[in-house]
Amino acid sequence: MRLVGEAFRPAAPIDRRSLFSGRSEQISELFSIAAQPGQHAVIYGERGVGKTSLAAVTAEMLQSANMLAARATCDVSDDFGSVWRKALDEIRVHTTTQGLGFTAGTKETSHSAAGLLADEVTPHAVRGALERVSAQRDVVIFIDEFDRLQDSAGRVLFADTIKMLSDRVVRVTIGLIGVADSVSELVREHRSIERALAQIHMPRMTRNELAEIVTRGIDASQMTIRPEAVRKITALSQGLPHYTQLLTQLAAQAALTQRRIAVAGRDVDVAVGRALDRAQQSVVEAYQEATTDTRRSIYPQVLLACALAPENDFGLFTPSDVREPLSRILGKPYKTAAFARHLDELSQESRGEVLQKYGTGRTSRYRFLNPLLQPYVAMRGVSEGLVRVQDLR
Ligand SMILES: Nc1ncnc2c1ncn2[C@@H]1O[C@H](COP(=O)(O)OP(=O)(O)O)[C@@H](O)[C@H]1O
Ligand SMILES: [Mg+2]
Repeated sequence: MRLVGEAFRPAAPIDRRSLFSGRSEQISELFSIAAQPGQHAVIYGERGVGKTSLAAVTAEMLQSANMLAARATCDVSDDFGSVWRKALDEIRVHTTTQGLGFTAGTKETSHSAAGLLADEVTPHAVRGALERVSAQRDVVIFIDEFDRLQDSAGRVLFADTIKMLSDRVVRVTIGLIGVADSVSELVREHRSIERALAQIHMPRMTRNELAEIVTRGIDASQMTIRPEAVRKITALSQGLPHYTQLLTQLAAQAALTQRRIAVAGRDVDVAVGRALDRAQQSVVEAYQEATTDTRRSIYPQVLLACALAPENDFGLFTPSDVREPLSRILGKPYKTAAFARHLDELSQESRGEVLQKYGTGRTSRYRFLNPLLQPYVAMRGVSEGLVRVQDLR
């Protein structure tokens, strides 16, 4: 039980390599960007795909490769200056001063690199400070949750800083992390930095990567798991590692309470029930708002069909993507016109605005506003017997 408690991390970003799976492509891309003078990166993807974990683990790896790595997380109260203070505060600079007189030796002092910034933080001042800290070692700085930086003037200053750093080829790499929209906005507003900014897309994880999370945690727990249980977990997770961590942990606990160290398919069924009970309040509320009705309606089924619809890399799906799963759930063929109204309503406030709508008419696309709602809906569908695990992608 103790090992199972330690081997999984459903609630916080991963910061240890031993718990981290997959993503080798993104890691090697970050290493090669760090080695290219004048290159910087944006890492973007849906909430919950593992961006923060990637940055944390890559920072650890960069450090073992003898580089300096720091991370700062933006919040709504931040501006350009406060973000840089946070980031530089993680870096220590050492100075040696020569004592007075013949016999005096040199004195080593170390202080936070944030001290290199003056009261008013400008891109110029940041470049100066970064030049100092990068004198001995290459530096990589991750700015997480960049989209939460409300201050639009601050974003412009970031673009200016990146431009300035690339023009002067300072040995510093900046990695901006955010959800897709904010990043494309940044690049759109500042064409001049497009060339200096490599874009790293974080897609949802593949079934194989998710299976690696399962087996790694199960191995660390000194347990075993049946292939059928792995298949169930990876199908239910819908590419989002949070659910893989949660379901595997709960399934392992379910097996242990029955005095088994081999996790079986039925343990996953138990885990699904528990995961639904333990889902975030916001997810549960969104589901209820979207599906409650006094009359009998097909909102639960339409929402479930949306969760099962094949989405593109940005989590977007079209009404016709929903048709096939809906017809399967309701047991008779449906045309898109029969549920177009439902999709629209689900993207309005009266139904909790659970979907976000892009475009109109034939070209309209939807996505789950909160990506974590999607696996929740799928798990409910399975536990209520509306779909079978095999029918999930
Ligand atoms: N590569 C990974 N291997 C294992 N688990 C991961 C991985 N990436 C993310 N996770 C899990 O997914 C959850 C969400 O990851 P996080 O890094 O916070 O995503 P994001 O920053 O994109 O919202 C974490 O709590 C962690 O449990
Ligand atoms: Mg994050």
